[in-house]
Amino acid sequence: MLFLFKFTSSQEGINILMKKIVILSGAGISAESGVKTFRDHDGLWNNYRIEEVASPEAWERDPEMVLEFYNQRRKQLFEVEPNAAHLALVELESKYNVQIITQNVDDLHERAGSQNVLHLHGELKKARSTKDESLVYELKQWQLKMGDLCEKGSQLRPHIVWFGEAVPNIGLAADMVAKADIFMVIGTSLLVYPAAGLINYVASGVPKYVIDPNAKDLNYPNLSTFKTKAGVGVPEIVKNLLKNKI
Ligand code: OAD
Repeated sequence: MLFLFKFTSSQEGINILMKKIVILSGAGISAESGVKTFRDHDGLWNNYRIEEVASPEAWERDPEMVLEFYNQRRKQLFEVEPNAAHLALVELESKYNVQIITQNVDDLHERAGSQNVLHLHGELKKARSTKDESLVYELKQWQLKMGDLCEKGSQLRPHIVWFGEAVPNIGLAADMVAKADIFMVIGTSLLVYPAAGLINYVASGVPKYVIDPNAKDLNYPNLSTFKTKAGVGVPEIVKNLLKNKI
């Protein structure tokens, strides 16, 4: 007898059978952990000017100020924990092939236990060389200082995509979104491109869920909006997805 199927490893086989859920998350998913968003009334960009702390020009002009801005963010990150929304997304992995694409620079998805997390805007707990961008280092402490050098002897900078810089992972993210069977958008104002444009790569007919207490009305087919906080809305949607109710 001839076997016409090529056998895959059991995990690979399960992943092929599972539906793929792709999630685009933003600062709102971490708000209930105590991390400030950027554009809400108490958001970071109300207290800091982007061009003074989050741009290549700012780094040229006043690197100490830039380092201090990210040091404060990093210090806080060591003090906060994942919330119910991060944790619920991990549960989805029991039945779905889950890919998170996050604009967040925190590591709360990873600490909750999500397996597949792609960071679009960099990672707060990493630093990289100003001479060779392939040299990226994990930071075990919250402070990054002038005089902290890479192995080639040049200053380390925060591993963050600043305004005006390219987003290296955007092509990968678009490919992931195009393969989604279900697409979720959680806690983002969808004001910053190219990330905000990812929704346009979703294949036609794919259900889309938006969870954000201030979600704007988006005109896409098959889109359901949940105007709730992530800590409430995400566990609810996850519960229904696990029961195949939506
Ligand atoms: P924003 O601050 O622009 O938007 C945060 C969104 O989260 C808003 O739509 C809020 O309504 C929503 N929100 C607030 N609390 C929430 C909660 N408890 N649950 C769910 N949603 C909640 O943040 P982003 O859209 O993530 O980039 O910002 C995108 C990028 O702009 C960031 O990655 C950052 C920023 O400048 C860089 O620094 C490069």
